[in-house]
Amino acid sequence: MTTALPARATLPGRFVVLGVAGGIAAYKAVEVCRQLVESGAHVAPVLTDAAQRFVGPLTFSALASEPARVDLFDAPEPIPHTTLGRRADLVVVAPATATLLAKYAAGIGDDLLSATLLATRAPVLLAPAMHTEMWEHPAVRANVDELTERGVHFVGPTAGALAGRDEGPGRLADPDLIVDAAGRVLAEGHDLAGVRVLVTAGGTREPIDPVRFVGNRSSGKMGHAVADAAARRGAQVTLVTTTARPAAPAVARVAVETAEEMADAVLDRFADSDVVVMAAAVADFRPKVAATDKLKKHDGVPELVLEATPDILAALGQRRRDQILVGFAAETNELHEHAAAKLAAKHLDFVVANDVSEPDAGFEVDTNRAVLLDSDGSIEELPLLPKTVLAGLVLDRIRDRLTERRPQERDQ
Ligand code: C5P
Repeated sequence: MTTALPARATLPGRFVVLGVAGGIAAYKAVEVCRQLVESGAHVAPVLTDAAQRFVGPLTFSALASEPARVDLFDAPEPIPHTTLGRRADLVVVAPATATLLAKYAAGIGDDLLSATLLATRAPVLLAPAMHTEMWEHPAVRANVDELTERGVHFVGPTAGALAGRDEGPGRLADPDLIVDAAGRVLAEGHDLAGVRVLVTAGGTREPIDPVRFVGNRSSGKMGHAVADAAARRGAQVTLVTTTARPAAPAVARVAVETAEEMADAVLDRFADSDVVVMAAAVADFRPKVAATDKLKKHDGVPELVLEATPDILAALGQRRRDQILVGFAAETNELHEHAAAKLAAKHLDFVVANDVSEPDAGFEVDTNRAVLLDSDGSIEELPLLPKTVLAGLVLDRIRDRLTERRPQERDQ
């Protein structure tokens, strides 16, 4: 069964500032504007100077709910950035260029759009678009990390065809995905307020000696996306992570390295958790003995004897009381069969399964194509999605489970 993304039920009547920065993808912002208006939002477009080199304000004025604004000093009202910032229920920037990200991260407000971003307390959704080299530049990565840490929402970019016949990550997310993400951000509110969520992220490292380890390619992006989104939705989040990746300030971080350390950190906190999302790629095997000193080449090739690590999720499945347990399954073949077996063997509520042999899905990338297998027997096949969007869908399902359970608890 394939389901569409959730409806845009939260957009009608909401005041959305649509910022358009200067990139070739600015022409696609016209479609974002049209869809936002069609979904019932009141849309106020703001174009940077560079955006107007790609598409004229008249186009936006014709489609939006009010004329496009382009200037900090020449708008209908005297202080347009504070007026817009205060009226906004949401600010969406599509496309968000490298310059826009840098200005916002640094707190520079030298034009109407960047000043509005600083003047608003509304949630902000950025849809970046730029060439792959720019998206992957350390300065841009640092700005994205900084903004994520501050609670700014991102949708995309996705991988695909770019201007100049280039190809790679950096393409603006499709307009319908941006509008769905806008609806989701507005819907988020605090629907997980007070829920204690424990998330694990990253691949564990099992030492061979003090400098070498057995590991895997997990980047921790999926687990971090779940933790950050849960915190934004009001949950009390503890993130047990093996990565140095930043997390939202409200997330309590616990740094671990090995499966054993992760097991201790998770089992210690299990009784005080309502939900556990095991997004970490926990090593299944570790060297039986880790050398205390670095193994020397001249001593010959060492023989590695492996042993099983503790299966954390299986242990949680045994001990669970009324917690919600979510597992991930990274597979390279027979996805449904293997994921269904895990769901049953580990007594989980649902499994997020993905085929890591597929391009753009699974380890290290920003997108994922997942199948959700639920203990109620339902199977939901999702399209290729940014991990941030998939995290939201996983949390929606958790919220629905919690709501189903609460009336039963009251009856007991
Ligand atoms: O069996 P497999 O390792 O593929 O199971 C994947 C799920 O089980 C993931 O949610 C992972 O975090 C969890 N897991 C675990 N402890 C292990 C191995 C996997 O909790 N030793």
